[in-house]
Amino acid sequence: MEPPSQNLKTTPLLSLRRFHISEDYGFLLPNPLKELPDQFRPWMEIANELPHLIESRQLQARVNKMPLLSCQGLKSYREQRLAHLVLSFITMGYVWQEGQTQPKEVLPRNLALPFVEVSRNLGLPPILAHADLVLTNWTTRNPERNLDIIVSLPGGESLRGFILVTVLVEKAAVPGIMALVQAVNAILQHRDNSLLRALQQLRLSIQDITRTLGQMHSKRWKDNPAMPVGLTYEGVSTEPLKYSGGSAAQSTVLHAFDEFLGICHSKESADFLHRMREYMPPSHKAFIEEIHSAPSLRDHILSSGNDQLLTTYNKCVEALVELRSYHITVVTKYLITVATKAKGRKPNHLPGPSQALEERGTGGTVVLSFLKSVRDKTLEAILHQSD
Ligand code: HEM
Repeated sequence: MEPPSQNLKTTPLLSLRRFHISEDYGFLLPNPLKELPDQFRPWMEIANELPHLIESRQLQARVNKMPLLSCQGLKSYREQRLAHLVLSFITMGYVWQEGQTQPKEVLPRNLALPFVEVSRNLGLPPILAHADLVLTNWTTRNPERNLDIIVSLPGGESLRGFILVTVLVEKAAVPGIMALVQAVNAILQHRDNSLLRALQQLRLSIQDITRTLGQMHSKRWKDNPAMPVGLTYEGVSTEPLKYSGGSAAQSTVLHAFDEFLGICHSKESADFLHRMREYMPPSHKAFIEEIHSAPSLRDHILSSGNDQLLTTYNKCVEALVELRSYHITVVTKYLITVATKAKGRKPNHLPGPSQALEERGTGGTVVLSFLKSVRDKTLEAILHQSD
């Protein structure tokens, strides 16, 4: 018989709060701001017109005239996140205004200095990351309460669709994150019934993520950008700095599920995925590390001899394999569409392979073999009664 379950609900909620994870929105920033204090109007005016300024090639001139503002006027965490979002989008536009063939290699100090300052305050890199593109870039349009994005880039409906589906994926993961925390606590408290329920909930959430990812199929894809070799942040360093572009590999969701389920990726894949953690808000990265150091779910299941737990664990793993297989289908379709487009067009800022992966191959082969390896290693986690 299990001990009474009085603290079961409060303990996980406290843990989530410790890592700035919302009970309602998960890793999404709850209710992101759309406006900064008045002194930052020059940034917001540019951000609100960004697609037009880039397409008409006026952005670089506008940025060069922008006043140098200090981030000290940003008071709250949400203001800082909006500032990072806005400056990262302006940076993308500034670098790519003239297209893929002529990226700007130096960022002027009136953009570089505040961007680096706010990045340091947040513990984020000074580049557009998943934390900006998706986690901070959503709002509900009143009165219908439809979802919309806050800042955009050329890429119109395709980009908007990509961001919003990814927001919905993050939202679909929330019950899974709650279940994960419940499961970790259940192991600590030796409550196998609670663990079983949590694993069932986790599986449902993973399946819901796959269904949500299905909405990507209705989108049309165009060509994708590559990142520059490096970017010099004027007034910050004289050497170019290298950063990856925004990628959903920077989403905390699957990192957390992998750690909890004890999935072991190949060294090469793990190295890449670990690098992606540097693009997450530090408290979310700390959450993954906390799960990593929690007692092992797999060891607990094996030593419990509980067949029901073992079967339910395996169903979670299978659901994760299906999610990854489905993602491979989406990426393949995207890569094929991109490959058939003529070269030399202006980038439309949809996610492409990270430079870290693409440097090692062309035409998406390296990316696909990475994604397949990650999927296949997930499958290897299936437990057998004799393990
Ligand atoms: C058209 C839509 C999408 C494309 C083209 C795409 C493309 C890619 C690519 C190229 C990678 C390899 C890593 C990299 O280069 O950054 C990747 C990895 C990844 N993507 Fe996507 N992606 C899409 C949608 C999504 C969505 C909506 C999610 C959900 C959050 C997602 C989650 C991931 C994850 C977690 C990885 C890391 C590999 C793994 O853990 O399995 N992707 N994606």
